[in-house]
This record gives sequence, C-alpha cells and structure tokens, in this order.
Amino acid sequence: MTSPIRTERHDNVLVVISDNPPVNALGQAVRAGLKDAIEEAMSDDGIEAVVIRCDGRTFFAGADITEFGKPPVGPNLPETLDTMEASDKPVVAAIHGTALGGGCEVALACHYRVAVPSAKLGLPEVKLGLIPGAAGTQRLPRLVGAEAALPLVVGGNPISAKKAQGIGLVDEIVGEDSLEADAIAFAKSKIGQPVPRASEGTANEDGVRDPDLFDRFRASQARKIRGFDAPNAAIEAVKAAGTMSYAEGVKKERELFTELMSGTQSAAMRHYFFAERAANKIDDVPKDTPLIPIEKVGVIGAGTMGGGISMNFLSAGIPVTILEMSQDALDRGTGTMRKNYENTAKKGRMTADQVEQAMGLLTPTLSYDDLADCDLVIEAVYESMDVKKEVFGKLDEVVKQGAILASNTSYLDVNEIAAATQRPGYVVGMHFFSPANIMKLLEVVRGEKTRGDVLATVMKLSKTIGKVAAVSGVCPGFIGNRMLSKRQGQANALIMEGANYWEVDEVLLDFGFPMGPFQMGDLAGIDIGWHRDPSKVTTVREALCAVGRFGQKAGKGFYDYDEARQRTPSDEVKQIIADFAAKEGKEQREISKNEIRERLLYPMVNEGAKILEEGMAQRASDIDVVWINGYGWPLYTGGPMFWAQTIGLDTIVEGLEKHGLPVSNYLRERAAGSGNFD
Ligand code: 3HC
Repeated sequence: MTSPIRTERHDNVLVVISDNPPVNALGQAVRAGLKDAIEEAMSDDGIEAVVIRCDGRTFFAGADITEFGKPPVGPNLPETLDTMEASDKPVVAAIHGTALGGGCEVALACHYRVAVPSAKLGLPEVKLGLIPGAAGTQRLPRLVGAEAALPLVVGGNPISAKKAQGIGLVDEIVGEDSLEADAIAFAKSKIGQPVPRASEGTANEDGVRDPDLFDRFRASQARKIRGFDAPNAAIEAVKAAGTMSYAEGVKKERELFTELMSGTQSAAMRHYFFAERAANKIDDVPKDTPLIPIEKVGVIGAGTMGGGISMNFLSAGIPVTILEMSQDALDRGTGTMRKNYENTAKKGRMTADQVEQAMGLLTPTLSYDDLADCDLVIEAVYESMDVKKEVFGKLDEVVKQGAILASNTSYLDVNEIAAATQRPGYVVGMHFFSPANIMKLLEVVRGEKTRGDVLATVMKLSKTIGKVAAVSGVCPGFIGNRMLSKRQGQANALIMEGANYWEVDEVLLDFGFPMGPFQMGDLAGIDIGWHRDPSKVTTVREALCAVGRFGQKAGKGFYDYDEARQRTPSDEVKQIIADFAAKEGKEQREISKNEIRERLLYPMVNEGAKILEEGMAQRASDIDVVWINGYGWPLYTGGPMFWAQTIGLDTIVEGLEKHGLPVSNYLRERAAGSGNFD
C-alpha cells in the first residue's frame, strides 16, 4: 500500500505532504509516514528545515475516529509529535482548512505555525466526549496561556486564523493561494535560530498567578457543560499544565483521556458524530443525484415559524419572498425578524452591516404572484389540512414548474397535501423546530411520490443553512412528535396516579433534558389550541386555562413564576389535578422516580422501534439525531435508541411489561436477537 505521506525537496527545505482524503485524519499510515519523514529530515545534512502541509481540502482534521476502540497500532500520535518537536531543525506547520484535534496538536508540536486567512484551528475533542490526547492540553497553555487555552479546550469550537494569531497560536498569516511557497520562505528565515518548543513555553504561568481562573471559567460555563464529563476533565488538564512539570502534565492528560475514552459518554458522542453524517444520506438516492438550484426561496406566513424559517435563508445569503394575508401581519412579522437580528447584533454575534445585508434580501408581499419565480416555497401556515390544501392548490397554479413546494407541517399527512397539486413529486415536508432560526433540527418528510432530486436538494440545502437534517416517512407526528406523544401520554397519566408534576419534570432534568414536559407546556403556552370557553373543562390543561393559568407569559401555568421567571410548584394546580383524578376515580399512590423515568422513556423507545419496523426512519441513529437536535435529548447518552442499547433492549422490554405498557414485536425480536437496532 502506498503511504499517504510523501516528501518533496525545495533546496534545503523538506516539504512533508499528507494526502489522506477526505480530511487527512491521522490514521496509522499517516502517523508512520510523518514519523519516517521527520526522521529522514533529521538524518539528512542537506535538509535544514521542514514544512508540513496537507493536500486536499484541509490540514489534518484530527485523529482517525474510526480507529477509536480498536487495538492501537503504533506509532501513536504522542510519540510521532515528540519526534517532531525534538528536532533541532525548524519544523513549520502550513495550515489550510481546519486544523482540528490531533491536527491542531500536530501544529502545536511544530516549532512554528503559518496559516492562510480562511483556516480554522481548534480542539473539538470535548464534542466526542474526550480531551486532546496528544499533549494538546499541555502544549497549548504553555504556548498561549491558560486563559486563552480554556475556551478552546473546554468549549471545543474552532477559531479563525486571525484570532489564533491574536493569542499566539499562529505565527504568521500567509497568502490564501501561496501557502506552500510562503511556508518555505518562512522556514528558511528561521534556519540557524534556536527552535521554540511549545512544551518549554511559560505562558501558562497566568494560571499559576491566578489559580481562581479555573473555577471562574467553570462557573461561567455551568449551564453549557451540565452533565458532560469531558469539559471538567479538560479544565483539570489545563490546570495541570500550570501546576505540574510537562512530563507529569502529559501523564495526567493521558490518564484523563483514557478514562474518558473507555466511558459511556464518549462512546455515545462518537456514535452521534457518525449518526449526524449518516442521517444526511438517503439509502436509495445516489450521491451524484443532480440537484435543483435554489437561488430564491418563498415563505408563506410571517408568524413565529415563517419568520424564523426565512431568517435561516437570509443569514445564508439566499433571497426570501415572504407572503402574508394582511399588511399588518406582514409588518409585524418582518418587524420581529429585524428585532431578532438586531438583538443578535447587540450580543456581538453579528455586525450592523450584516443585519442590513440579511434584511436587504427580504421581499415582503401580499400577492401569490410574487412567488412565481421561487425555486423553493415553504408553507408555514395554520395546521389545518383544509387550509394547507388550499395553499398548495394556489402554489401549484402560480409557482414555476420544477420548483419545490414544501410544507412545515408538524404532523399532517404530506401525501394528502401533495395530492392537492399536479406535481406531487415536487412536494416534501420541511419540519422546522421553534425557534426556527435557532433550533438545529430539520425533519425532512418524504412523501410517497417525493422525487429523489427534491430530497437530495433539501438535504444539501439543510447544510447550507446550518441545520442537521433527518428523513422521516409520512406518519402522524413523523419521528419526533410521534415519540413525544408517547412520553406526554405517560406524563399525563403519571400525574393522575399521584406523581407530582414537578417530580415528572425533575426526572427528565436529572436525566439531562433542558426541561420537562410541564415546564415545556408553560413555555410554549398552555392555551395553544384552547377553545376559549372557560365553562367547558374536560382536561387539566383546559382547567388551567379556565383560571387564567396560560403559562409563563401569564406569570402562571403549571408553575407560578416570579419576575425573574423562577418557577415554584403551585398549590392551586396540585388541587386542580387532585380534583380531576378524584372525578375520574383514579387511585392515588406514591410513585418512585425510577418508575417515572421508565414510564416516560421506555415507551419512546418502543415507538422508535415501531417507526423503524414501518420504515418511517431509515436507521435507528436517525431517530437519535432527531431527538438530540429537536427535543434536547442529552447528547452524552447518544439519543434514545443508542441509550436503549446501552442499558439493554431486554431491560426496556422488561420495564414496559412491568408497567403494563405495550411492547412491539420488533422491539421484542431485537431484544431477543442481537440486542441492537442496526
Ligand atoms: N476521523 C475519521 N473520519 C472523519 C474524521 C475523523 N477525524 N473527520 C471527518 N471524518 C469523515 C466523516 O465521517 C465523513 O465521512 P463520510 O463522508 O463517510 O460521511 C467525511 O470525513 C467528511 O466529513 P464531513 O461530512 O464532516 O465534512 P465537512 O466538510 O462538513 O467537515 C470537518 C469537515 C470540519 C473536518 C468535520 O468532519 C469534523 O469536524 N471532523 C471531526 C474533527 C474532530 O473531531 N477532530 C478531533 C478528533 S479526536 C482527536 O483528534 C484526538 C486526539 O486529541 C488524540
């Protein structure tokens, strides 16, 4: 097998080049080739400096994740990098694309780093439930200081070359199109000088002078890192860089890394990494399917959903024509969009110019005719089949042939909507989640007749607008809401049987969800879909509405809220629920947190199994992608289906039986068979 590493001589500079598509992951062959090349340079008197660069779209994007969990084959990355750093001849990393994880650690082991302006550098290991494992947590703080290192190692988000230069991670920004030549010139300019080694740096002394730095940083990240093991380990490792010798610090990093690597969180998060990428692929739609160009988008409805959906496209530079029924509604909707953008600008995440650029791409209209030349029209109107059919009938008349017509419905039959047009092949569901400009998930609903190129186009577009997409077949509630309804059903039943509603919420919070079902009800508004007749009370929700407990916006819903929106359980609501339970003759009993957890989560897994059996999801991991991105299922468990496999499908079956809940045949078969959904 030919090595992915080759070398080229440029006078007295050896250029070491990696060609390991798609992202130059640092697999065994790459590591071995790199080590050999460095050793070649060391032993060759004609070579006085080394440049390391990559072919293709990026500098090394990290260790090869597919090797994780398999028996290691040397040389390992730390020893490869130690060889590199030990060189007395200057070694320069020439960076383009994304120098991530192990790739950033390669750069740190080099004596100098030059990068093109578009390059990004980062240590995203925490996103895989890990910390850097090739001395990144020890070299980086010594090079840039603990304060600058913490957000990189703990947050895991990459930074631009310019920012990296600002903190001392990059030495020089070079020409976008002249990386190799500029890197060679840079390397030549360093010949004969003593080489600076990151492992010998002293910038980490900021963390020695101010040891509270680490606690302050941890406190500032509390909400983001709740429940995750890796960020705390990352803080510990960076702290060790200040309190220990380099060799001891590296040992500490290795201990933390090894512990995380063998834990369930990292396994779950690595599963998710591949799940997200798999979800974008559609089994029977070939990769090279020609796409429909999307240069102009129409959105029907300027309410919360329509406005949020439009912002996704505007932010990506795609013009949007937004349609409403009245000037008032149109003005209100576009006004809210502008306000949202301005708030983002106030937080420093956008410039005033970018706000104007985005809003400048928006065309408000009251006429369907203005949608005629759109390549994609997304309907975000009231959830009524009659209304949707009317809208699609009109769209079919005015919008050009070949354009995609999408519905944002969250549960209606997309096949029936498609049948209201003469072009059902071009009709698809695009289910965004509220707030649509922020939530990552896009559920793409594939109708019976939806064409392959329409699906491929929508999947590609989802990436352009920064969404994570998963495909669902047509069934009530699709993947996400269909499973949610099972959880909600149990939540409602539990409070009728004696569980306190705040305990139900607490169980989900403890599991790692950002909120429970009753908190969610309060946030969304209890009065959604309410008939507005206080004398007609047939459910707990109607009873709450009848006494003005509409949710957070009214200062009271299931909970009472103070001015800071802090919630406390309400005696009034407890009484309402008790009265309901008495009326329905429901016996009250103590219900353990364990029972609550099992009854909320196990039926979701059962429903997920049915979704798989019916072919409504292509693979179990797509269901995980939906629940992690759309409903706050904790990432560190890998999603409902992966979590179920982790605790054992037989445990789920037994639990469902114990609580007298239905068990699908498919779940039973899988539990009795491989214990696996895939
Ligand atoms: N190992 C193995 N495969 C990888 C990989 C990696 N580190 N990074 C990406 N890939 C694969 C993807 O699975 C995908 O495969 P597919 O085409 O078969 O689905 C392919 O490369 C392309 O990836 P993307 O679809 O994600 O391409 P993008 O252009 O959208 O993004 C990227 C490129 C920004 C590099 C993104 O892939 C990414 O973020 N990769 C992971 C980076 C990372 O986490 N690095 C740290 C690894 S852990 C580590 O280094 C430990 C060390 O400290 C010891």
